[in-house]
Amino acid sequence: MESYSLYIDGKWRKTEDTLDVLNKYSQTVFASVSKASEQDVDDAISSASRAFRQNKLSPYERYTILHKTSQLLLDNQEDLAMIIVQEAGKPLKQARTEIERSAQTFELAAEEAKRIYGEGVPVEAAPGSENRMAFTIKVPVGVVGAISPFNFPLNLVSHKVAPALAAGNAVVLKPASNTPISAIKLAEIIEEAGLPKGLLQVVVGSGSTVGKQMMKDDRIQLYTFTGSAHTGLKLKQDTGLKRLILELGNNSPVIVDKEADLDHAAQTLAAQSFAYAGQVCISVQRIYVHESIQTQFLEKLISSIKKLNVGDPADPATDVGPMISESEAERAEQWIGEAVADGAKIAYGGKRKGALLKPTLLTNVKKDMRVVCEEIFAPVVSVLTFSHLDDCIDEVNSTNYGLQSGIFTQNIDTAFYAAKRVEVGGFMINDGSQYRVDLMPYGGLKDSGNGKEGPKYSVDEMTEERLIVMNLR
Ligand code: SIN
Repeated sequence: MESYSLYIDGKWRKTEDTLDVLNKYSQTVFASVSKASEQDVDDAISSASRAFRQNKLSPYERYTILHKTSQLLLDNQEDLAMIIVQEAGKPLKQARTEIERSAQTFELAAEEAKRIYGEGVPVEAAPGSENRMAFTIKVPVGVVGAISPFNFPLNLVSHKVAPALAAGNAVVLKPASNTPISAIKLAEIIEEAGLPKGLLQVVVGSGSTVGKQMMKDDRIQLYTFTGSAHTGLKLKQDTGLKRLILELGNNSPVIVDKEADLDHAAQTLAAQSFAYAGQVCISVQRIYVHESIQTQFLEKLISSIKKLNVGDPADPATDVGPMISESEAERAEQWIGEAVADGAKIAYGGKRKGALLKPTLLTNVKKDMRVVCEEIFAPVVSVLTFSHLDDCIDEVNSTNYGLQSGIFTQNIDTAFYAAKRVEVGGFMINDGSQYRVDLMPYGGLKDSGNGKEGPKYSVDEMTEERLIVMNLR
């Protein structure tokens, strides 16, 4: 069995205390990972803080390291994909895509390292300031504390680490404890790409120990977190006045208008509701269909869902694999049961075997059922109907989330009418809420968080603007 170490002060550190990593399909242990003690976390933060103060990398050197990382990710695509298949239970073809996206994220961050601009400030326009000149520069914030989720164990780590390094920061990373290996492999690759020691630390452990210690440490200047709204709120309360980027949940709504291309809508929505077993923050969860096309659309949607291959994530043909744990699948099953007891109908799926929950389609749902108003994070989608677009938009906006949404329609006026009124960070026309490429600004409103990811936007979040004024005497 493979065992993995922590990465602290540029060295691989094995600890007595370890955690087992399960293959999420077979539910057998396939690797063990060192667990960070309080001393390990303290050493990691000290080293990051020292490395930040001594960081002499020029923007071009940062570019070179990040660019090389991107290439090495692609060189190691198959090995990394198999790690994601095992530790996350993600289907192989989606895992391969994650490596490609991760390489993109590093490449984009590499490019951003070369264009961190300040601007001229016309202070001489203020009365009495005629002989002055001013401009801003962007400086790194210092040590970034990054806490990443299980669902994209490589690319969401990359979205935190790559821009932080591009901006000239040091990073202390705590990956999700059920999927820590991709992050450790990434650290190996970044080391091979030439990152000087101390600029990246990887500490593994739970949120309530390692995460909590990181939150309390004043040597960390900015936190970047992806996870649940519940934990995001806790972080906001615990980190006081420090900077915080929060990428939280969603219960993504998509509208299918009476003027939609129904084949395109059905195929896209089937794929986007169930990719990675619905465990994506922007998975389609609520589909609002115009009542006049409800029957045809449902037929087409069910026929597209039937084509999805469900099963072993290591099989290249699989579209939907297991959930991250059996207990999570049980929770989703319980939410389905509650909805059914309250009148919902299972139009497709609903069956569970261990961590594998079949793609499930619910109809006859009500807006206050948990499957509709909360984030289910499971392969479960609900279809609701509407007769007037304004009422539909009110329903779409009636939950606490606002990350991404979309509409299917051939009518440009309807599309833009909705785009202006739906309260989200990103709105897709003729695509589902799950559309994301890595250069986009990505982040939500309300309980979906604050701040944006996407290397250009994260570099901005992870730098401070410093004003320099010259008195020309
Ligand atoms: C997320 O779950 O927030 C990430 C979605 C993605 O990167 O595609």
